[in-house]
Amino acid sequence: MIKMKGKNLVSVHDLSREEVDQIFKTAEYLKMKKKIGEKCEILKDRTLAMIFEKPSLRTRVTFETGMTELGGHAIYLAPSDIQMGKREPVYDVARNLSRWVDGIMIRTFSNEIVVELAKESRVPVINGLSDLLHPCQSLTDLFTVYEKKRVLKGLKLAYVGDGNNVCHSLMFTSAKLDVEMSIACPNGYEPNKEIENLAREDGLELTITHDPEKAVKDADVIYTDVWASMGQESEREKRVKVFRDYQVNMDLVRKAKEDVIVMHCLPAHYGEEITKEVIESKHSVVYDEAENRLHVQKAIMALLM
Ligand code: CP
Ligand code: NVA
Repeated sequence: MIKMKGKNLVSVHDLSREEVDQIFKTAEYLKMKKKIGEKCEILKDRTLAMIFEKPSLRTRVTFETGMTELGGHAIYLAPSDIQMGKREPVYDVARNLSRWVDGIMIRTFSNEIVVELAKESRVPVINGLSDLLHPCQSLTDLFTVYEKKRVLKGLKLAYVGDGNNVCHSLMFTSAKLDVEMSIACPNGYEPNKEIENLAREDGLELTITHDPEKAVKDADVIYTDVWASMGQESEREKRVKVFRDYQVNMDLVRKAKEDVIVMHCLPAHYGEEITKEVIESKHSVVYDEAENRLHVQKAIMALLM
């Protein structure tokens, strides 16, 4: 066992390969325990504060259910409750919460807020999505790929769409697990250069192209996400035009390996980045992926808190 107690999860880049492996093993164990109906109250009587500055279905429900299943309790703090930086500074939110709860999960806009919260908090901080990163999602995604393929090293994951928070965290996680990535995005919508450099330094084998067909050739996994993320609503109309040729539809899926799996973090905009036909096809694993958010985040909380 590697000691992870007290650590934050701001970015997968901060984790070692062994720590990622430990999260996966713990998630597998907790999932099995749940399936056979055995309780695992590792966080009995512990409390997680969940700060949400953006909407959520999966993240909120899986963290809250996860805490309940681990014997603890979660408190949902809505955007109007805390008003970070407006009602009081981020460091006071961190210092106050640290005196009462055992962990903090935050979904916010700027990643700098997550970084500051983690710096000022005495209890572990878990990034539940920022404009830059979505680590709990990408860890779950690669865990799901492992469940389906029973191997990760050497697989090719094609990401088609916006070089966004989900894409960035997939790059960091793929680097840790020796998964090759090929990203197809429109000109000007490439992933953040700094993240690209860090992921490459960490060993990520990466191709960036503007051609979705090239990206999905020989792919074991096709991944996509919305064209306009939360906070980019005003750009939606423009983005729908820019991204038109980057839809994951059955024609594109047929250009990948025959046993390719298709993933999406959800929520999806059907008819935009992905078609309903693809989601309903034998290739889609999106609901297993969503289920696994619960198991993987339980593992993260059990290890860090
Ligand atoms: N994938 C994901 O994080 O979903 P929510 O935005 O519903 O939490
Ligand atoms: N990129 C999306 C992911 C939602 C889970 C967003 O940030 O809105």
